[in-house]
Amino acid sequence: LFGLWAVLGALFLVEFFWIVADFLRPRKRSRAGTTSVIVAGPVEHFETETVTAFPVGAFYLVRLADGGFLAVSRECTHLGCTVAWDAQKDRFRCPCHASVYDISGDVLQSPAPRPLDTFAVHIENRVVKVDTSVRTKRATSTPEQETMA
Ligand code: FES
Repeated sequence: LFGLWAVLGALFLVEFFWIVADFLRPRKRSRAGTTSVIVAGPVEHFETETVTAFPVGAFYLVRLADGGFLAVSRECTHLGCTVAWDAQKDRFRCPCHASVYDISGDVLQSPAPRPLDTFAVHIENRVVKVDTSVRTKRATSTPEQETMA
């Protein structure tokens, strides 16, 4: 009887650690069946100084005052929470630890360590396209990062 309990205990421990290890293992994001290029729409659909959410691509398409486009990630650079656009105050706010970003994704209030990441923006035949497979981490926001119409 003691031997049976020892075997059952060992099986329980193996299964327990298997479950814990599987739970803690990082998962790869599956992109199967999804396209990385998202057609946002004609340039004329986006007025200057506006922010448009694209939940499918997990980004905001920003058209800045000079007419340039930026596709900023919705992931906060602190711990990855989803930032929300506050149209009244023209700011991105993170609900988790209160980081604040300006319209171009620059940090206005920490703990975020750097600006929001950006995705590649292409304009073809006056149509804005965002390639979410090309992510750029920035130290600061500069006009050169914009795509001009
Ligand atoms: Fe955004 Fe911490 S995850 S401030």
